[in-house]
Amino acid sequence: MKDILDQLEDRRAEARQGGGEKRIANQHAKGKLTARERLEVLLDEGSFEEFDTFVTHRCTEFGMQEVKYPGDGVITGWGTINGRQVYVFSQDFTVFGGSLSEAHAEKICKIMDMAIQNGAPVIGINDSGGARIQEGVASLAGYAGVFQRNIMASGVVPQISLIMGPCAGGAVYSPAMTDFIFMVRDSSYMFVTGPDVVKTVTNEVVTAEELGGAKTHTSKSSVADGAFENDLEALIEVRRLFDFLPLSNREKPPVRPFFDAPDRIDDSLDTIVPANPNTPYDMKEVITKVADEGDFFEIQADYARNIITGFVRIEGSTVGIVANQPLCLAGCLDIDSARKAGRFVRFCDAFEIPILTFVDVPGFLPGTGQEYGGIIKHGSKLLFAYGEATVPKVTVITRKAYGGAYVVMASKHLRGDMNYAWPTAEVAVMGAKGAVEILYRSEASDPEKIAQRTADYEDRFANPFVTAERGFIDEVIMPHSTRRRVARAFASLRGKQMKNPWKKHDNIPL
Ligand code: HXC
Repeated sequence: MKDILDQLEDRRAEARQGGGEKRIANQHAKGKLTARERLEVLLDEGSFEEFDTFVTHRCTEFGMQEVKYPGDGVITGWGTINGRQVYVFSQDFTVFGGSLSEAHAEKICKIMDMAIQNGAPVIGINDSGGARIQEGVASLAGYAGVFQRNIMASGVVPQISLIMGPCAGGAVYSPAMTDFIFMVRDSSYMFVTGPDVVKTVTNEVVTAEELGGAKTHTSKSSVADGAFENDLEALIEVRRLFDFLPLSNREKPPVRPFFDAPDRIDDSLDTIVPANPNTPYDMKEVITKVADEGDFFEIQADYARNIITGFVRIEGSTVGIVANQPLCLAGCLDIDSARKAGRFVRFCDAFEIPILTFVDVPGFLPGTGQEYGGIIKHGSKLLFAYGEATVPKVTVITRKAYGGAYVVMASKHLRGDMNYAWPTAEVAVMGAKGAVEILYRSEASDPEKIAQRTADYEDRFANPFVTAERGFIDEVIMPHSTRRRVARAFASLRGKQMKNPWKKHDNIPL
């Protein structure tokens, strides 16, 4: 009996060695943690239950039958983050470069099936050279199995990807279908075809970092939702994000203890909107002043900065934030911001996370760049997402809400539940200057008349009351009481029930 117990311990010890000391040292030399060390940081201490520790590959090509490592390059199982269950896989770069074999894929598929069945999120740590070259098509089939499960899990359980090393070829498509992707600066990259292939085919000379590093994907391509300095920071921040999310679409988001009075008054909000309508201010200040303890987890902070997305808590409950940012492009909606916010709204709606929208939008960004790029189709993504969302929707117009962009930004007309406006709000078809130029073109040569017409227009429309008279906003509120108003609004909407007509699925303009 003792022998067999010892054997188990020996086998476990062997599995813990991954690809061996030398390769572990190489991993550390690159500033990266090992697959197991990453799980230790990500999960609560002692909570990890490992599966398939002793699985090995079945390949017999290229002498592979002689080289086997228990676990076959990926560590899988489940554990907890602050006591809540999560399924995990962590690819081990020290074993065949973390490459994906048929057996490696089966291990990932097993935990994904369990996650869907049991209703708990999946966090995948990717650090892999892609398809296991020695296994050929069996490896490709393995990838396809993972992809299919990503698709089935989408909208059922939250899926989060951490990219902590190379992620190339088809390997990028599994993370791409998850809800959030986070990268580590200078040690992770993602691309469909690497720099060498790019050079051969297009003659472009580009480094791996330029082509698919964290900066590229968080600021240019929007493939990734955030980037962190090192493995440790990335793992700790993902723990923070996890606390905002429900375990599945069968559960409400978690309610955490909070130490911030829901009726807290913030007088500084009364003066945050500048007197000059063309002067910007930082909408993030409004968000953090309304949130519990000022805690805001931003998503895609470096992409399409004209719109802000992320999570806060109000009275301990998770709320998704979408807000125009006057500091960038005057807060205009454009292709990138509509895509960014549209996807975020759909995530919130899929997982029953209420949405709080702050509006200061002068309209859609004009120009050939936008029209040729398909602003009509991309802009309608956000319109569609808000209109189909059935979660509680609370909207606060702080300043401009012009034209189509007013309608898009969770207006009453798109089933906004509580639509508030600050006294500084201006809800109109367009700004005074543009309106007067069109309505009084014949008087264009007379600056005095035009100035008078502009002042008249502003008097009539540069306020929230015309809209309030129609009932398109529910109440004009004092900025200092925004937190209390919003908290009470969400509290009143906790029992909201709303269903869209039955359909197989919708056809959002992709
Ligand atoms: C098998 C692999 C491997 C792979 C790396 N290794 N990639 N083994 N299959 N795909 C092994 C190496 O042989 C080496 O083994 C160890 O991992 C570390 O690799 P190095 O090259 O020494 O490391 P590094 O210099 O850091 O370079 C990492 C790398 C490079 C950039 C990932 O290894 C690389 O380019 N690999 C191939 C990438 C690739 O083309 N993959 C296929 C993509 S196609 P030893 O024994 O020396 O430690 C694809 C299709 C999927 O993925 C389609 C799905 C639909």
